[in-house]
Amino acid sequence: QSPIESSMIEAHDLLKKFYHHLLVNTKEGQNALEYLQARGFTEDAINKFQIGYALDSWDLVYKFLVKRGFSEELLEKSGLIIKSEKRDSYFDRFRNRIMFPITDHQGNTVAFSGRAIGDDTPKYLNSPETAIFNKSKILYNFQTARPSIRKKEQVILFEGFADCISASTAGVDNGVATMGTALTDYHIQVLRRNTDTAVICFDSDSAGLDAANRAAGLLSDTGFTIKVALMPHNMDPDDYIKTHGAEKFLNEVIGGSLTYTAFKMRYLRRGKNVNNEGDRIQYIEAVLKEISKLTNAVERDHYLRQIASEFSLSLDALEKQQKQIYYAGN
Ligand code: GTP
Ligand code: MN
Ligand code: MN
Ligand code: MN
Ligand code: MN
Repeated sequence: QSPIESSMIEAHDLLKKFYHHLLVNTKEGQNALEYLQARGFTEDAINKFQIGYALDSWDLVYKFLVKRGFSEELLEKSGLIIKSEKRDSYFDRFRNRIMFPITDHQGNTVAFSGRAIGDDTPKYLNSPETAIFNKSKILYNFQTARPSIRKKEQVILFEGFADCISASTAGVDNGVATMGTALTDYHIQVLRRNTDTAVICFDSDSAGLDAANRAAGLLSDTGFTIKVALMPHNMDPDDYIKTHGAEKFLNEVIGGSLTYTAFKMRYLRRGKNVNNEGDRIQYIEAVLKEISKLTNAVERDHYLRQIASEFSLSLDALEKQQKQIYYAGN
């Protein structure tokens, strides 16, 4: 860490406390606090994740940090203020937003993500990439979750940090989320140093399923045993927990998560009508390809029987076809 980087972190740290204070202690923050409460964020979660609020002001943060001795240049480099070329002055990046501090894997506050209150766009505004913040290298909540990830020998991956926070309230302390980017090789390496089991718990919309499929492939290729947790269509973990409660989330969504192959079978079926002969044959062929990747004979047998039974096919024929696919690919 260079002196400039330490100073940038110090500014973030101070501002995190300031935003949090504005949210929980001031009249100006009341609206934001009510929004969070209406969404079911508990006081504990607000404190634990140091959630805050940026007032609807053009220069409150600028003044606050300059008064504490930070230079304009450093603050601009930190992404906290923006220079207005026209007026030769500075203004705050985040205004009238719920502020989520972002911590790096050492526990330093290195960025913020600000959520609009209600339907303003963009929904989330992130700090720009800086000397201390690289989105593709950060997993939200990693530093806090790490001991639990190691102890439980499992990590739970979420798509959004609202999900991560909600799940934490529900008792999931081994959850992390990407910063709105796809899972990178770097993320995977960091996780792999701590565990070899991952539960993917993304949003159950079409984008989330595609992302889950991609993450599942990447993680498996890196030696992870993965499971995929699914929710009713168009829900995310946060929605689910707020609708159905923590217990049902733990027992049914996390507890009922699918193996990689079972998820693939579900995924491959999307948009296909298996009552149609062409679709059905395509689907079975694709599933057999997946089954061919399994090294465990008992597992192969399990899924082959499942397909045989569902489509009234002979197990013998399926086995033959599966072996053919296996040898053709090897
Ligand atoms: P809520 O609507 O507050 O519950 O958020 P969510 O976590 O459900 O968000 P969503 O599923 O839409 O997106 C998942 C993640 O993608 C978020 O946690 C953000 O990191 C990121 N994201 C979503 N919308 C935006 C956006 O408008 N801009 C940026 N930069 N990132 C976004
Ligand atoms: Mn979205
Ligand atoms: Mn989503
Ligand atoms: Mn979501
Ligand atoms: Mn959500």
